[in-house]
Amino acid sequence: MKENINILAIESSCDDTCASVISNGNILANIIAGQEVHREYGGVVPELASRAHQQNIIPVVHQALKLAKIRKEVLSAIAFTKGPGLLGSLLVGGSFAKSFALGLNIPLIEVNHMEAHVMAHFIKENNQGNCPNFPFLCLTVSGGHTQIVLVSDYLKMEVIGKTKDDAAGEAFDKAAKILGLPYPGGPIIDKNAKKGNPKAFKFPNPTVPDFDYSFSGLKTSFLYFIRDKTKEDPSFIENNIQDICASYQQKIVEVLVEKLIKAAEKYNIIEIAIAGGVAANSCLRNVIEKEKQARNWNIYFPKFEYCTDNAAMIAIVGHYKFLNHEFTDQSVTSSARYV
Ligand code: KG4
Ligand code: ZN
Repeated sequence: MKENINILAIESSCDDTCASVISNGNILANIIAGQEVHREYGGVVPELASRAHQQNIIPVVHQALKLAKIRKEVLSAIAFTKGPGLLGSLLVGGSFAKSFALGLNIPLIEVNHMEAHVMAHFIKENNQGNCPNFPFLCLTVSGGHTQIVLVSDYLKMEVIGKTKDDAAGEAFDKAAKILGLPYPGGPIIDKNAKKGNPKAFKFPNPTVPDFDYSFSGLKTSFLYFIRDKTKEDPSFIENNIQDICASYQQKIVEVLVEKLIKAAEKYNIIEIAIAGGVAANSCLRNVIEKEKQARNWNIYFPKFEYCTDNAAMIAIVGHYKFLNHEFTDQSVTSSARYV
């Protein structure tokens, strides 16, 4: 009888401490400990994040193994996020993974966080999942990254477009900060936008060639817009919050989808996957749904808990790398830019 492949995966690239257990490609546990400490700062404070990871890592791993009913002695390997991300945060998960693998004398598997967001589409529970067919395009939109990825096989992918500056999630978070809304801003802008008019205010289109993105100009124009309007009327934000959110969100989504359509046309692909925290955005989902009808696309969104940062996506990469015997040794180091 073939032995089970049981992998413990750790994710700690930003402000969530995450552990997951995968057995023969099925997720048995997916534990996420968020960090409330950043809320009042309007963004993640790196030093506070790494300290919170240190506090959370052992309880989170313990909880994942307990929920999965997997004893550490039957683990086949430990997978962890090597990067990209905040170095101090990555080091906590990376050091834990290295020590645990060494202590158990089992292989260690390094994972690229961005590859993992794409591979989240292959996560299965009870042998069930809705997986895209190869080749497919994946729009990965998170707080740290915005990419269009051409995926030709498991673990075989090429970034064909990316942001030159801010990520889409960052554009949401920074606008929220300007409006005095708490971090993370995406969900709050989304909620306010639902009752607003997306045509109420106009924001400029970024001009970037090919499949690349840029959101910093949009963010700056938003800052000036709010500054000028509140000079004229100090209650401008309060009185127009829904229209402001709807108009700004609409522009971000328009920009994201326009490049995705261009890429789908150039590569003649109708399998379209969306990943990352911004995949939760209701306007993005609606616009993609419309394009699906118009262009005969097959669209894929992972379950919400697998869109935002999580260790199940690290676990699924770990599973495929284990099958390929792609292990790393104890000399591996965490890397903010993944090199
Ligand atoms: O993937 P993720 O959890 O972390 C990173 O790897 O960055 O993404 C977090 C980002 C944040 O910028 C957050 O504001 C954004 O995803 N986000 C949203 C929504 N939910 C989360 N943005 C727009 N609309 C949402 N509903
Ligand atoms: Zn992420």
